[in-house]
Amino acid sequence: PRPILLTRHGESLHNVRGRVGGDTVLSEDGELYSKKLANFIEKRLKNEKTATIWTSTLQRTILTATPIVGFPKIQWRALDEINSGVCDGMTYEEIKKIMPEEYESRKKDKLRYRYPRGESYLDVIQRLEPVIIELERQRAPVVVISHQAVLRALYSYFADRPLREVPDMEMPLHTIIEIQMGVTGVEEKRYKLMD
Ligand code: F6P
Repeated sequence: PRPILLTRHGESLHNVRGRVGGDTVLSEDGELYSKKLANFIEKRLKNEKTATIWTSTLQRTILTATPIVGFPKIQWRALDEINSGVCDGMTYEEIKKIMPEEYESRKKDKLRYRYPRGESYLDVIQRLEPVIIELERQRAPVVVISHQAVLRALYSYFADRPLREVPDMEMPLHTIIEIQMGVTGVEEKRYKLMD
């Protein structure tokens, strides 16, 4: 059966500074991860000539895919990170200080909270529908390089986790989650390539 490999992009400059959103490039650690990921993929998908690599349209996922050679790459807007609207580029501390009501509303109901001029987790889940349909149609392995919120939603769909768990699920950097749909259900393996 064909595996789906999910990973966040390598660490970005905004990750280092604790800033949400944006479109920054990779940190040194992030670049190292991109190379380790390429190595892993080349070994793991050695005999899978028709595998494809899916990224978002943001630099950090495209750069993470760059060292991977030999597979076609597809960019999906639907794989872009949750749109944090007016909070884009801020740290959580800044949001708490400058927009305390927004901060509190998000804390109260992270699943439904929509950033002003941005998105909620429910919005993200909805826009992922075409990606999920396409993923389910694939006969070959797919590597999905995306972002924290998006991968929480995608993973939850395939692992059959309840909606309320989506926004707080752990989705660490520099880790690959491999899922396989079998007759008995979903099988999952995790590979942590770096700390
Ligand atoms: O911090 C990295 C990041 O991908 C941000 O760009 C995004 O806003 C955030 O994670 C999503 O996680 P949370 O919903 O927990 O804020």
